Amino acid sequence: MDIKELRIKAQEDIKSAQNLDELNKIFKKYLGKRGELTLILRSLKNLPDKQRKEQGRITNKIKQEIETELQNQKQRLQVSGSTGKFQESIDISAPGRKITIGHLHPLTLVRRQTEEIFQNMGFSVVEGPEIETEWYNFDALNIPKDHPARDAWDTLWLKNKLLLRTHTSPVQIRYMQKHHPPFRIIVPGRVFRHEATDASHDVQFYHLEGLMIGKDVSVANFRAIIGEFFQKFFNKDIKIRLRPGFFPFVEPGFEIDISCIVCQGKGCSVCKRTGWVETLGAGMVHPSVLKNSGIISNSMTGRWQGFAFGIGLDRLAMMKYKIDDIRLFYSSDLRFLKQF
Ligand code: DAH
Repeated sequence: MDIKELRIKAQEDIKSAQNLDELNKIFKKYLGKRGELTLILRSLKNLPDKQRKEQGRITNKIKQEIETELQNQKQRLQVSGSTGKFQESIDISAPGRKITIGHLHPLTLVRRQTEEIFQNMGFSVVEGPEIETEWYNFDALNIPKDHPARDAWDTLWLKNKLLLRTHTSPVQIRYMQKHHPPFRIIVPGRVFRHEATDASHDVQFYHLEGLMIGKDVSVANFRAIIGEFFQKFFNKDIKIRLRPGFFPFVEPGFEIDISCIVCQGKGCSVCKRTGWVETLGAGMVHPSVLKNSGIISNSMTGRWQGFAFGIGLDRLAMMKYKIDDIRLFYSSDLRFLKQF
């Protein structure tokens, strides 16, 4: 082939190379050991002197030009990212790989949402110790020793008459000892019970205590506040029902039912066909409890009074996310946790 034709062909080949692999092949085709141009160069020695000089000059010039073009094309391909194998291993049309990010535990979500709703109604979030004395957990809450009411709280006792708190109610006492009414607080926290576990009981779970004390805080205020809470929490119209209930630290005491969120009160297996689900205990703080905390109550002289309530955060989370086993919250099972 004529050297000039070869040059044109090489130029076209270089331009059409789509990646570095192809470019490499073109290099070999012309300039490799057995490349077309290499062979021509090698054959020069067989030519007569004069002709060899002339041909040699032309061929070497073309060789240089081809080398430069190869170099330029190589740079172009590298810049555009179309580099041989590299290009083949990346499918630029594929959707991006999903980055796994951490997320919050369902109980944390519920706790945060609950705190936010109450904070918007003027409540402060307060905490207390998980290890309690008998006095704060029981006596001060009007649950004397040897009183059958203590049986309601199966207790995990520690040394020196200390115990793992069975509810968050003792924080009421701790707070009232240190603060002057009026106030409204909520106390979220972990509580412990010495109980056999099943789908609705565990040895640890989360409670949220509420306490509002003022000059004329009444059951009507409680009803309004708890109604607003459920409305916001479930983002639905929720009916509330108060039934008489006994808790030593309140008088009168109530059990509060809400209309079943699964069947909207029509009756289903969750509400045992009653349309109602029991969700919390509450009542007007017992005068003895106020007294034990150093607060004087006397309805005749218009001193302090108020309500308290206790709600299970696990129970709330179970209702909200339709979870039928409390133990799942503490199982660390990622298949469960990843759903939130
Ligand atoms: N402490 C109670 C429990 O462990 C819950 C409770 C009921 C708290 C009535 C209250 C209340 O403040 O008024 O189940």
